[in-house]
Amino acid sequence: MILLNDKNQELTLKAVFKEDELNPLIIKESNRTTLISEDKTIYAYFDKALDFKTVTKFICNFIKTNKYNVNIDIDSFKKGAQENSCVGRAIMESVFYADYEEFSLKTTKKNNVKPTINLLHNCSRAQEKFEEVKIKMELVNFARTLQDTPPNLMYPEMFANKIKEMAAGIPNLTVKILDKKEIEQEKMGLLLAVNAGSNLEPRVVVLEYKGNPSNTEKVGLIGKGITFDSGGYNLKPSNAMVGMKFDMSGAAIVCSTIIALAKQKANVNISAVACLTENRIGGKATLTESIITSMNGKTVQIDNTDAEGRLVLADGITYAIRKLNVTKLIEASTLTGAILVALGKTMTGVFANNDEWYQEFANATEHSHEEIWRMPIKAEHFEAMRKTPIADLTNAEPSRFAGSSTAAAFLCEFVEDKPYIHLDIAGTADDNNRGTGVMLKTLFEMFK
Ligand code: BES
Ligand code: ZN
Ligand code: ZN
Repeated sequence: MILLNDKNQELTLKAVFKEDELNPLIIKESNRTTLISEDKTIYAYFDKALDFKTVTKFICNFIKTNKYNVNIDIDSFKKGAQENSCVGRAIMESVFYADYEEFSLKTTKKNNVKPTINLLHNCSRAQEKFEEVKIKMELVNFARTLQDTPPNLMYPEMFANKIKEMAAGIPNLTVKILDKKEIEQEKMGLLLAVNAGSNLEPRVVVLEYKGNPSNTEKVGLIGKGITFDSGGYNLKPSNAMVGMKFDMSGAAIVCSTIIALAKQKANVNISAVACLTENRIGGKATLTESIITSMNGKTVQIDNTDAEGRLVLADGITYAIRKLNVTKLIEASTLTGAILVALGKTMTGVFANNDEWYQEFANATEHSHEEIWRMPIKAEHFEAMRKTPIADLTNAEPSRFAGSSTAAAFLCEFVEDKPYIHLDIAGTADDNNRGTGVMLKTLFEMFK
């Protein structure tokens, strides 16, 4: 249980710093803890001023190994923190993140009696901040469970049910789920082409939150929801197929973001469109060199069935523009292996067709402390994706050079004139084979 300024627990975790006058028993190694039972205190020693990242890492490790009911003295951490480092929020977020019970179907479960964590924070807005973090982290953890659930259990219909269940009864929030017939009626040809090899129906989950009815601005969040990416006829080799249950992470994150914002009663109009299907092989699966008409009418030559994310997203973007009348777009997807090569596992690649819209997003990451790096979309990337004599676009150009940028350029072809941000989370959506719920905190920060 995680509490705020509640009944005192017997032990307290307290931060101490190099310059403090210290009990000689305290181990003076940074990030080390010493339990001194006479003081009923676990001392955490730090040799320099704390920042958001250091505190986050420390608290996550502490919570994962801790067996005691404890108070965490947030104020002691704040005393030794760098200016504007938001360590109070960092502690709250990390406690909720680390305390979450990770998905498991082990039949021999450890006897997991979770200790009580009582956060001590002497601040007039402590309660308000705590409630906000609680909502946000509940939905981060919900997204992580969706991500971690194996692909035989988290298929499009199940994903849609889970979202519907989670969104039920929240004011000003509506859920609509399109089944295959409705997707056909909407002429979402690209989504249907990816779905063709699957024996399971696709779904489009549409969440609409109206928190500011007098405003005409409406943001659309689009998420890639490939519940398993085998590659299709361009079948992935075994080692590259590992972790492809996480290919629905974008969908999990955008849906969870909307639910969090609705629970927070954010003053914004914002919708999510999640395009869900498996990408599989089989007698009905789409063949390479097929040409498919998208929902917005452009024709696409499918030169690589493993570049399926951009296909389902293109129709998702068109749906958001044409059917929901969104004025601005942010889309999240585990889109390219190339972004892993470029940025590794810590930074999300951000692409934008509009500098102001990018800046708003970048500002939000200053508060969320999620790491991003802006990547280019240039004329040559558009050119590469238009290089096919018999269709408007190809979904994969042969060179693979600048693979993340050409993918982004393809998506830009569908945003009409709307300000658009594309988040390539292929590197950051999971960590050590566990979902992270990455970018939800940033999106929450941006729109709360
Ligand atoms: N889902 C993958 C991208 C991916 C790769 C995510 C590694 C996470 C880890 C995506 O659908 C894909 O296969 N992309 C291809 C595109 C190529 C065929 C143009 C890729 O990156 O190789
Ligand atoms: Zn793929
Ligand atoms: Zn994929």
